[in-house]
Amino acid sequence: MDEELNSKPSRLLVLYASQTGNAMDAAERIGREAERGGCPSVQVLSIDHFGASCLPDEKVVIFVVSTTGQGDIPDSMKVFWKSLLQRNLSNQWLEGLHYAVFGLGDSGYQKYNFTAKKLDKRLSDLGAEFLIEKGLGDDQHPSGYEGALDPWLLSLWRRLNIVHPYILPRVSDIMDPSKRSLDQAKFEVLYHFADEIQSKLSTISDLKDTEKVIESALSMSPAQFYYHEKRPEYFLQMITNQRLTEEVDGRDVRHFEFKTTSSLIDYQVGDVLEILPSQNPAAVDAFIQRCNLDPSCYITVIPRESNNQSLGRHSKSLVHPIKLKSFVEYTMDVASASPRRYFFEVMSFYAEAEHEKEKLQYFASPEGRDDLYEYNQKERRSVLEVLEDFPSVQMPFEWLVQLVPPLKTRAFSISSSPSVHPNQVHITVSIVSWTTPFKRQRYGLCSSWLAGLDPCKTNGVYIPALVTQGALRPPPPSVPLILIGPGTGCAPFRAFVEERAMQNLTGSVAPILFFFGCRNQNNDFLYKNFWSSHAHDDGVLSADKGGGFFVAFSRDQPRKVYVQHKMKEESKRIWSLLSAGAAIYIAGSSTKMPADVTSTIEDIIAEESGISKDSAARWLRLLEKAGRFYIEAWS
Ligand code: 2AM
Repeated sequence: MDEELNSKPSRLLVLYASQTGNAMDAAERIGREAERGGCPSVQVLSIDHFGASCLPDEKVVIFVVSTTGQGDIPDSMKVFWKSLLQRNLSNQWLEGLHYAVFGLGDSGYQKYNFTAKKLDKRLSDLGAEFLIEKGLGDDQHPSGYEGALDPWLLSLWRRLNIVHPYILPRVSDIMDPSKRSLDQAKFEVLYHFADEIQSKLSTISDLKDTEKVIESALSMSPAQFYYHEKRPEYFLQMITNQRLTEEVDGRDVRHFEFKTTSSLIDYQVGDVLEILPSQNPAAVDAFIQRCNLDPSCYITVIPRESNNQSLGRHSKSLVHPIKLKSFVEYTMDVASASPRRYFFEVMSFYAEAEHEKEKLQYFASPEGRDDLYEYNQKERRSVLEVLEDFPSVQMPFEWLVQLVPPLKTRAFSISSSPSVHPNQVHITVSIVSWTTPFKRQRYGLCSSWLAGLDPCKTNGVYIPALVTQGALRPPPPSVPLILIGPGTGCAPFRAFVEERAMQNLTGSVAPILFFFGCRNQNNDFLYKNFWSSHAHDDGVLSADKGGGFFVAFSRDQPRKVYVQHKMKEESKRIWSLLSAGAAIYIAGSSTKMPADVTSTIEDIIAEESGISKDSAARWLRLLEKAGRFYIEAWS
């Protein structure tokens, strides 16, 4: 926590709680606009760098907060939120504080923008006064969260100018494109000569070749500054790359197995494997060429502190010099992620051709927002493609370091139990590809890279990865389980079943009801033999044990049949296991599935116990608090 940053009376403070970086981006934009409007002191901080106890010392605070998962607050906000919820705080504690809240959420989810709504209410309950009504950004909006942010921000600046003119004296300067000047890049890039770096490089010479380059790249990854990105802990050897689906309808779901040779992998059932993908080498070369960079030179990247704007991120310097090419390869996503709006604004300053400059300025303006969204996000244009579309732009590397989206790890639910596979970890991955509105074929960076790897390759294939805790925590073996996992949602439950089957060998375990869903019996029935083998005889899914395995084939008949339909048919069994203390787990990749399944569970509870659906929903929330109801959803 940055104590010296707190307690400055007349500044504008922007606090953000980001999970994927969007809220940070929006907060930084707010900071830039405030500076343009003449604000004498702006501070943009991640909320975990600010102590809630210092809030009463502030005059004006703008909050930009994301909602993640099933209505959860971002990890970075947990401590702050806990402090704000303390019971001993009076309803006048924040009297005199003016605030504004902007939320980033997705109206496709049930608890839409929950973080922003809860925060707004709590601030007001504690006596703070809002400057303007909270703004709610929606991923479902045709131009994303910025569709709501643009008008909200304009209202905020106008209001602030009236209420605190000394904090924001010049609204018109924010709107006037001719007043716009190029900001200072937040990083400084130092270039090194080969002999100068020899001694420093020797510090990592003990590592194996592949490890060496990845280690050195990661130790200085800008991702570390950006999103508290975690560093890979393992270099896992791929031992299996097996397609689980038939080639018929184009779906490609794979079972991957990895092993460590040096140490055991430390993970638990319910954990997640995060993998740092590799980029296409041709794309990396093309980017380096397009940007006129020298791939073999060595660089260090140093964050530049400024008076008004904090970096708003971890500000570690890059300790080792690294080859520029490796830096690009391992830290900058040049060919998969789309650049943000600010990228286009900065590009406009470097465009030599007038028509390109105009187009870029238009894209960066509120009027061009929808067209930019069509061009950029919807088409998923990569940095490389954007740079190729604007050939007269030559951006300095320091700007590229700041603005090219960082190469991020991708998370997969682990589908193996460590008790059954002590030095292995398995994952179940849907290989992502889609067609954009303009009919461009796109591929998921990590999944398509993994699918293309051949574990039989001489010398082996190694991938950098780390293990993080997932949302699903399995209970002790004596607790019955109700698992619902259509599609790749079955991944964590393969681990649950493996673990319980192992425990079944040595002691008595409670039964499992598992509901699986897929399109067709013959094409995408993932791990069919595995489930069947545990549903027989004394298996943990067997009816003899009080368990069961049910499959919904959604497309094998004219009418869609989903897991929730199968659950309805099994209402009595579900209710009887719930009454016996069962825990419920839902996992899957559909946006609507968790809400639909939750609603079915409420129906079942209501019908079987004779209470209202509202009461059933309240009961389910109590189960959630008691660690008996979990959801893990991914898109
Ligand atoms: P569909 O693709 O035929 O609509 C795994 O993806 C399975 O989940 C598929 O059979 C898919 O069916 C199904 N599915 C899609 N939306 C769902 C929802 N809202 N609830 C439950 N299952 C769903």
